[in-house]
Amino acid sequence: MITIHVTDLEGAVHEIQAPTDMSMNVMEAIRANELPIKATCGGMAMCATCNCTVKSDHPLADMSEDEEAMLDEAFVLDIAGSRLMCQIPVTSAIDGLVIEMGELTGE
Ligand code: FES
Repeated sequence: MITIHVTDLEGAVHEIQAPTDMSMNVMEAIRANELPIKATCGGMAMCATCNCTVKSDHPLADMSEDEEAMLDEAFVLDIAGSRLMCQIPVTSAIDGLVIEMGELTGE
């Protein structure tokens, strides 16, 4: 299990737990912890409604072209640390990750 610190759109901070042995991504971990998130495309890097900004300096994998294109299309690519949560795998490398949910995740 790892811990992820998530600030929601109201500014409340949630400490969520996620297992590293279930091939989950951060969007799925947030859903599993019952925080509201649109994530319309279900994790295919096709909607940007799982956008976040990463506030800690964990070494994340580089963005795929799909992720970059989607963030660009959604006008959030230029926000420092902007990523799609569904493209961040839950592994021990991100234990303690600090993220803020992006505007597009809300209803
Ligand atoms: S859930 Fe659609 S891009 Fe992540």
